[in-house]
Amino acid sequence: MPKALYPGSFDPITYGHLDIIERAEKIFDDLMVGIVENPRKETLLSFNERKELVKKSLEGENIQVSSVITFSGLLVNCAKQHNRESIVRGLRANSDFEYEFQMALTNRDLAPEIESVFLMTAGEYSFLSSSIVKEVKELGGDVSSFVPGVVERKLARKFSSAD
Ligand code: PNS
Repeated sequence: MPKALYPGSFDPITYGHLDIIERAEKIFDDLMVGIVENPRKETLLSFNERKELVKKSLEGENIQVSSVITFSGLLVNCAKQHNRESIVRGLRANSDFEYEFQMALTNRDLAPEIESVFLMTAGEYSFLSSSIVKEVKELGGDVSSFVPGVVERKLARKFSSAD
């Protein structure tokens, strides 16, 4: 099986991301999770916080990946640097499609040898996004069914300005 990279901003990681990682892990023998250092959108969590939460969530949920790496610049350059033949992305609803299609075709133009592979998220997470989690938590809602405890506690500290 080709080696794969699952990239994202993970601001923060959610059970939706973890669901995709578990699915990809069953298909690919060698799966790396790649955290982008400077996403185009502004993040709530710092780069180090996002990285720490990804690692702790994987540990806490007992999900084994080959490694968690970080990258800046083009995704395809990161994939090449780590000898990845595939980039894995999760699809939730129709609304993801256009952005993912554009990204996959751009990446194919830049690096035709790297294939994008899309996995459908579990139905129960098909509405879930990092942005929704942040909004719910900021407004005092319970996000325990959306993110691991370590993420929930971090968000609680962020929104109480203790962090
Ligand atoms: O979790 P996200 O925010 O949907 O992840 C987006 C990500 C990090 C995969 C995307 O922004 C990305 O690939 N960034 C690196 C820059 C790049 O390669 N851009 C050109 C691809 S269209």
